[in-house]
Amino acid sequence: MNQQLDQVKEVLARARVEIGKVIIGQEEVIDRSLIAIFTGQHALVEGVPGVAKTLLVRTLARVLGCEFSRIQFTPDLMPADIVGTNVFNLRDNEFTLIRGPVFTSFLLADEINRAPAKTQSALLQAMQERQVTIDRETHILSPNFTVFATQNPVEYEGTYPLPEAQKDRFMLKITMSPPNREQELILARRMLGRESPEAVLQSGTITPVITSEALARLRPELEGIAIRDELVAYIVDLVRASRNHEGILVGAGPRATQSLLLASRAFAALAGRDFVTPDDVRTMCVPILEHRLVLRPEFEIEGISVRELIEKLMQEVAVPR
Ligand SMILES: Nc1ncnc2c1ncn2[C@@H]1O[C@H](COP(=O)(O)OP(=O)(O)OP(=O)(O)O)[C@@H](O)[C@H]1O
Ligand SMILES: [Mg+2]
Repeated sequence: MNQQLDQVKEVLARARVEIGKVIIGQEEVIDRSLIAIFTGQHALVEGVPGVAKTLLVRTLARVLGCEFSRIQFTPDLMPADIVGTNVFNLRDNEFTLIRGPVFTSFLLADEINRAPAKTQSALLQAMQERQVTIDRETHILSPNFTVFATQNPVEYEGTYPLPEAQKDRFMLKITMSPPNREQELILARRMLGRESPEAVLQSGTITPVITSEALARLRPELEGIAIRDELVAYIVDLVRASRNHEGILVGAGPRATQSLLLASRAFAALAGRDFVTPDDVRTMCVPILEHRLVLRPEFEIEGISVRELIEKLMQEVAVPR
């Protein structure tokens, strides 16, 4: 019996329940968000307006006892608007640090592709290094620092699509679809009364399941989830297969291997298990690989989606017994 590991599983299970009091449906989305947070990684979030992207991250923060902030990326946003800046204070005759929005736990970076590369890089660097340098002084970010970045549909004018190398910094992609009819009915009815998702989040109905300090201590316990060596090899082979496939122009780099390992372990914990199964790996394969692969133009013309290609890769790589 590993008590710490049991505690991780319990916190995850209770977090799912509490988040479910606010967010209707979206179970897969909630799981992927928890995976990014518990593995200390970052997520790209995709979804049309109004599918509760903002509400999701605010709810995650509330339930996990963490701070939340949001940055709206715009073409004139400067790196200092993200990390912060030293401002001369005339009264005290000295510089004081104004901390930027990266000094938080959960950061929603909205429409990240609307800012120029230099500003995007400031965020990506903070994500990678988990620290920022302002006027040559280094500041460590929160141990739970997790970025949820949304992208504006690329057709818009004046967008700066994230280069592949930068997308690779995100552990996984979270796709949020509109609710189905039944869920939308629940939402509509709840809006009529006092139980709108917003009201539930504001009210005392939500119980935080952990504090941010305890979360930071608990996260590394996921290392206790066992993963057989054959499964490690399976993960390596799946990622490598993406580099050799005829339909893929740019395959996934070694960060994808690392991400798939971490995500599979966290997914096993969400399923209440102490060990990873081949199915855990297969479940995480699409959200880990999807945003990292670039199709060859001829394949795109044939209308094959990246997801379909990943499904094909999974058929081609032998599953360990
Ligand atoms: N699955 C859902 N569960 C609960 N509430 C939802 C759901 N989908 C939509 N809503 C409702 O839609 C509202 C809008 O959500 P939110 O502002 O979080 O959307 P968004 O995805 O951030 O939109 P935008 O892209 O415009 O920023 C929420 O406040 C909530 O009332
Ligand atoms: Mg929003």
